[in-house]
Amino acid sequence: MPPTVSAAKPLLRSLAGEIAARPPVWLMRQAGRYLPEYRKVRAQVAGFLDLCYTTELAVEVTLQPIRRYALDAAILFSDILVVPDALGQSVTFREGEGPVLEPIRSAAAVAQLRPAGLHERLAPVYETVRRLAATLPPEVALIGFAGAPWTVATYMVEGGTSRTFHNVQLWAYRDPEGFAGLIDCLVAATIEYLAAQIVAGVEVVQLFDSWAGVLPEPAFQRWVIEPTARIVAALRQRHPDVPIIGFPRGAGLLYPAYFSATGVSAIGLDTTVPLSLARGNLQKIGAVQGNLDPLLVVTGGAAMAAATRAILAALSQGPFVFNLGHGIVPETPPEHVAELVALLRSF
Ligand code: CP3
Repeated sequence: MPPTVSAAKPLLRSLAGEIAARPPVWLMRQAGRYLPEYRKVRAQVAGFLDLCYTTELAVEVTLQPIRRYALDAAILFSDILVVPDALGQSVTFREGEGPVLEPIRSAAAVAQLRPAGLHERLAPVYETVRRLAATLPPEVALIGFAGAPWTVATYMVEGGTSRTFHNVQLWAYRDPEGFAGLIDCLVAATIEYLAAQIVAGVEVVQLFDSWAGVLPEPAFQRWVIEPTARIVAALRQRHPDVPIIGFPRGAGLLYPAYFSATGVSAIGLDTTVPLSLARGNLQKIGAVQGNLDPLLVVTGGAAMAAATRAILAALSQGPFVFNLGHGIVPETPPEHVAELVALLRSF
């Protein structure tokens, strides 16, 4: 028999809508360069993707923050750009430069992608999930993830991280049918990838839409909300009990529409979402997650503690998961993360 909700892990209970006496906590990018033990493992492989595709090392770096801190969840160590890589696009990571992709800017280039090869390339990631599911302490939930189609498309079209997003937005305006072909390909790949992570053992999935905030409302409807709603509907059909967290970073006034229209179980709040909107509006739709500024974890001390208490005061009377409003940054002192988690544990 599956455990009842009340016997389940703290993260799963909050995502199901329970109000916790002590809110569960995990941190976006909780594994990574701010940890010396991560940098040691990272130095053993040439390319960043080699780390994602080497099961033994990916398991190790996923577990590193769990060993240090009393977190309620581990997040699979991988990257949102394994999907374009697995579709056959060239993806590399350069030191200090971030990701570099061979840009795709036409329907003809989309036709060159090879969705049939997806699971073969991603098999080591699924193996990482299986090992983690067998290893994690019983109270720690395992989170899987993917990039949302719009955000992954920005990297595929711009050829890396962009400041202006002109290429991808101009393609979408000039040739919406052609661009829709890329988005449809990513919707299908994301459904397959997340469903395979679930079968391998993840208990929650998060969709990272890091660049949702650059689009005007009609484009946001078409390229953020609609593709996300299709992914949510397909996953619900296959795995109705697995909660889905949407993180439409920068969506601002469109946060409530995103939450209602996509059907995600919970919403990740970026650093700019006012606590009053989160509490008065979003938390009435479902569980909310967030949203401490990662720079306050670099700062530490009284400023971090005061902002943390304000978030708890605003959101802990409803379904809530404590997190940051974006990923931990590399210059974060690991002791400040320990302070933060201790503060949350004593709440
Ligand atoms: O601990 C975890 O959160 C799990 C692992 C994880 C990584 N990336 C590892 C990583 C997750 C969930 C991501 C998500 C991700 N990747 C996003 C969405 C979240 C966000 O930050 O907005 C995006 C946009 C990416 C794409 C990406 N990956 C970029 C732009 C970069 C380069 C910039 C950087 O921070 O270095 C990466 C590289 C990356 N992904 C690193 C890590 C630990 C650092 C690379 C290294 O160690 O050499």
